[in-house]
Amino acid sequence: MLALLILSFIFSSLHLVAGHASIWHPSMFGFNVTQQTFSYDNRPVAPLMAMTFDQWWFHGHLGYPPHPTDVFELPAGQNVTAEVACDKGATSYYASSPGGNVQNGDDVCPGSPMSEYHTTGLDDVKGCGLAIAYKSNVSEVQPDDFTIFSINQTCVWTRFTDFSVPERMPPCPNDMCLCAFFWIHSQDSGGEQNYMNGFQCRITNSTSNVGLATSQVPRRCGADPANGKPDAVPGNCTYGAKQPFYWYQQQDNNMFEGTYSPPFYTDLYNFKDGAQNDIFQDSYVSIPVPGPNQTALPVLAVPGNAAVPSSASASSSTTSTSSAVHSSSSTSTSASTTSSSPSSSPSSASQKTCSRNTSAFSRRSVADDSSKPFKHRLFAMTKHSRKLDMQRRSSLWRPL
Ligand SMILES: *[C@@H]1O[C@H](CO)[C@@H](O)[C@H](O)[C@H]1NC(C)=O
Ligand SMILES: *[C@@H]1O[C@H](CO)[C@@H](O)[C@H](O)[C@H]1NC(C)=O
Ligand SMILES: *[C@@H]1O[C@H](CO)[C@@H](O)[C@H](O)[C@H]1NC(C)=O
Ligand SMILES: *[C@@H]1O[C@H](CO)[C@@H](O)[C@H](O)[C@H]1NC(C)=O
Ligand SMILES: *[C@@H]1O[C@H](CO)[C@@H](O)[C@H](O)[C@H]1NC(C)=O
Ligand SMILES: *[C@@H]1O[C@H](CO)[C@@H](O)[C@H](O)[C@H]1NC(C)=O
Ligand SMILES: *[C@@H]1O[C@H](CO)[C@@H](O)[C@H](O)[C@H]1NC(C)=O
Ligand SMILES: *[C@@H]1O[C@H](CO)[C@@H](O)[C@H](O)[C@H]1NC(C)=O
Repeated sequence: MLALLILSFIFSSLHLVAGHASIWHPSMFGFNVTQQTFSYDNRPVAPLMAMTFDQWWFHGHLGYPPHPTDVFELPAGQNVTAEVACDKGATSYYASSPGGNVQNGDDVCPGSPMSEYHTTGLDDVKGCGLAIAYKSNVSEVQPDDFTIFSINQTCVWTRFTDFSVPERMPPCPNDMCLCAFFWIHSQDSGGEQNYMNGFQCRITNSTSNVGLATSQVPRRCGADPANGKPDAVPGNCTYGAKQPFYWYQQQDNNMFEGTYSPPFYTDLYNFKDGAQNDIFQDSYVSIPVPGPNQTALPVLAVPGNAAVPSSASASSSTTSTSSAVHSSSSTSTSASTTSSSPSSSPSSASQKTCSRNTSAFSRRSVADDSSKPFKHRLFAMTKHSRKLDMQRRSSLWRPL
């Protein structure tokens, strides 16, 4: 029993230190927030879970805005490099870090062995995403204004992380948009910890004026052997513009997965690696109502923007809408999708106003979850213990 207690202490310590990270750039909200700024640790790298809307939205950093001229530039059709780290001192911006310069090449978290930080290895990273809202006033941005436009499925793995910007991104209103970094890591290392960091951004070198489609709630449709689903169910995917995951908070969730089956920025939710090239109002000719039994697949308007298997054909799309060219029609498509599917989330993807209290976090389901999969905890613990042996570690990583 004592041994178990000690083990679970070790596990929970690891659980706390493993895998904290954020994007770092002067364009971000909360760039200079330290461990002391708030009454709790609300550094940009602090994980977000079971928080109120004001606490998780932009990481609670709306009161700590960047300078108006600090804007992350996103050249359409190009790749950008962002810095992702567990401490500001590990980035190019160490000068304003309380702990000074602790950079170590591509190391996300100097002082913490990478293999521990990233749980079980490169095959266990779960991807991160950048989202954009085409609004220049942050006070007016709502959760469903965000669309994920770029995914790096091997994130978080290296400090310097590349993101591909879709070629057809239109320019921002007043030459300013709001962006955010989103990340949920593997359940092997505390999957319920999720991350959001907002920043000012703008699209440069734009060559298109077609707007983004209304973003929809992503659906779990990829192969998921760990949860008894060996094969992908392409008809169940959300196609086109997709919202970030708002998960495991007290308020305003759009995802309701349990603690040990977190949503990920991977094929599991139809987030392909790289630029999300199918997020525009004219990307699809038709998008059938997704569902577990849907066999018809969407038809892309621009061949080559591959988001759909090539077996998709117009003739098979008996349930497809006539044309989802305008964002309003794609909205109604998904509205019916959401209400007709018993397994879809209670919060409608198309609801434009954000009703803070309706999609409240369910404490019961979390309690159910934490009592259930003790097996999973043991499994995770075993992995950690094995790694600890391998690394002959003598001390736990401490916040810098
Ligand atoms: C952050 O701190 C640095 C160093 O003190 C300062 O130069 C910079 O203006 C600050 N940025 C913001 C957004 O407050
Ligand atoms: C951007 O990165 C992707 C993935 O690494 C690569 O395939 C593509 O060629 C790069 N694009 C440019 C413009 O460099
Ligand atoms: C931003 O939006 C808020 C809320 O709508 C408004 O009060 C404020 O005046 C706006 N700021 C600017 C610069 O337009
Ligand atoms: C993800 O980031 C890594 C590290 O910068 C980079 O090598 C890779 O090409 C990126 N992937 C995509 C799809 O951009
Ligand atoms: C973007 O456009 C500017 C001005 O037209 C040009 O100087 C620059 O090289 C372009 N940048 C990229 C990354 O294409
Ligand atoms: C379909 O997607 C929903 C919503 O994400 C999910 O709850 C359900 O498990 C998925 N079903 C299948 C068979 O993929
Ligand atoms: C999908 O098909 C199965 C088996 O026919 C059925 O039990 C289930 O209710 C169907 N689900 C939906 C959402 O239509
Ligand atoms: C949410 O609930 C709180 C407390 O019950 C209440 O004060 C607030 O007005 C509600 N907000 C909305 C948008 O209904």
